[in-house]
Amino acid sequence: MFRRLLVAAAVLAGVTGALAQSDPIAERQQLMKDMSQAAKAPGAIMKGEAPFDLAKVQASLATFANVAKKAPTLFPDNSKTGHDTEALPKIWTDKADFNAKWEKFGKDAASAQASITDEANFKANFPGVAKNCGACHETYRAKKS
Ligand code: HEC
Repeated sequence: MFRRLLVAAAVLAGVTGALAQSDPIAERQQLMKDMSQAAKAPGAIMKGEAPFDLAKVQASLATFANVAKKAPTLFPDNSKTGHDTEALPKIWTDKADFNAKWEKFGKDAASAQASITDEANFKANFPGVAKNCGACHETYRAKKS
């Protein structure tokens, strides 16, 4: 019985894994939306529209670090078109630089996770992390507005 359950779980895990892989454009767009959602709380604190909340700031940084780890695998060669993608062709001609940008973003998020403990170091450190969004979009994302 237990073995059968294990086998069923393994099969299910394989299926969800395959589904995730089959639609990398939708998956990366969803992760980006998650990040922009996660950026709202720290953004409001930064503007003085909400009180400092360390738990929210840390949750946001954890989302960034997580996405930075997953994102580089979601730009395979067969995902240049479809789903109204805003990904620019330069991603695939400059893949090493594109991946380096993800790595820098992930490192900045991780070091902010370690260093942000109060409002003062939040204000000093968060903008540097958030700059990575625009720095990458400028080169690798077509803005449709
Ligand atoms: C290393 C590059 C890179 C970094 C860093 C990055 N993005 Fe993106 N982002 C992209 C690319 C490429 C797209 C286009 C994806 C597509 O449409 O296939 C995108 C798309 C988006 C979108 C549109 C998603 C949609 O389809 O609705 C949002 C919102 C977004 N990013 C927010 C963010 C935020 C917020 C951050 C920082 C916290 C961030 N991104 C960091 C590369 C990056």
